[in-house]
Amino acid sequence: MSEYVIHTQQLTRRFGKREFVKRINLQVPGQQIYGFLGPNGAGKTTTIRMLLGLIKSTSGEIEIFGKKLKDQRMEILKDIGSLVESPAYYAHLSAYRNLEIVTTMRGLPTRRIHEVLDLVRLTKDAYRPVKGYSLGMRQRLGIAMALIANPKLLILDEPTNGLDPSGIQEIRELIMSLPGAYGMTVLVSSHLLSEIEQIATYVGIINQGEMIFQGTMKELTAKSKPQLFIETPDPVLAAGALIQHGWTAGAESIEQNEVVTPIVDRQQSSEMIKVLVEHNHPIYRVTEKKKTLEEIFLELTGKERSL
Ligand SMILES: Nc1ncnc2c1ncn2[C@@H]1O[C@H](COP(=O)(O)OP(=O)(O)OP(=O)(O)O)[C@@H](O)[C@H]1O
Ligand SMILES: [Mg+2]
Repeated sequence: MSEYVIHTQQLTRRFGKREFVKRINLQVPGQQIYGFLGPNGAGKTTTIRMLLGLIKSTSGEIEIFGKKLKDQRMEILKDIGSLVESPAYYAHLSAYRNLEIVTTMRGLPTRRIHEVLDLVRLTKDAYRPVKGYSLGMRQRLGIAMALIANPKLLILDEPTNGLDPSGIQEIRELIMSLPGAYGMTVLVSSHLLSEIEQIATYVGIINQGEMIFQGTMKELTAKSKPQLFIETPDPVLAAGALIQHGWTAGAESIEQNEVVTPIVDRQQSSEMIKVLVEHNHPIYRVTEKKKTLEEIFLELTGKERSL
């Protein structure tokens, strides 16, 4: 049995001849917020649909709560709340009535309605028809519907799509409160790193159907540690000279004529520069640079090349 709440093995989905989700090993630890990131068309919704049993996988395994989805589908799904793309509701009815319909259908106590309305801050507007709601309010109603059965796992596909900054902030705060308050595990997808970096503790980055990074948010941000860039005409040889003298160095980009090294103190950098000068590598400039997460994301997804 897996230690993960969601664990997929080699999960693959084809449409026609093409694979749109390619051998994905998703590992979502319990009581965490897992950010599922990827540009448009990366395969996020397709993956989520497979997790929810809405479409079949072409091959691979899905385990949720340590159970195989193909064997215990109903058992698993009763503990999952989800919002995939836009929420489904009756626009002429109020939020309260919409939620009442869900509780009746699922045999849940009606007192849950007030609890979830409160949680998504719709209490004040609970009895107005949904057709008069803003986009953010509708989205919150969708989340209320997903939360009403008190799920162990909440799956939200781009819940903040189309919302303004304050709407985004409200949903962000709501999501962040869930693991602590209810022991819930949340998988939330987005194409925006800026949205995920503030809420997620774990991250999976998918691009063209392939998982290109999976780990803690900390590991991802560690990639943005500041580094020293030394501009010199032959970075490959210069890096070699530094390595020979026991330093860590690499040629960052040959076009930009830069050697990159970890940040060192003043004394060490003067020693490094001395080594370079002694090996006849002129130093044009030394700068300290920090990659932003956005740059790392672009680097990982390879999108910067197409811009
Ligand atoms: N039913 C389908 N038939 C054919 N192709 C499909 C089908 N569903 C999805 N695809 C293709 O699979 C790819 C991944 O789509 P998916 O919706 O999973 O991406 P996404 O990561 O959710 O993107 P977005 O950020 O735009 O929502 C796309 O190229 C899409 O055209
Ligand atoms: Mg999608």
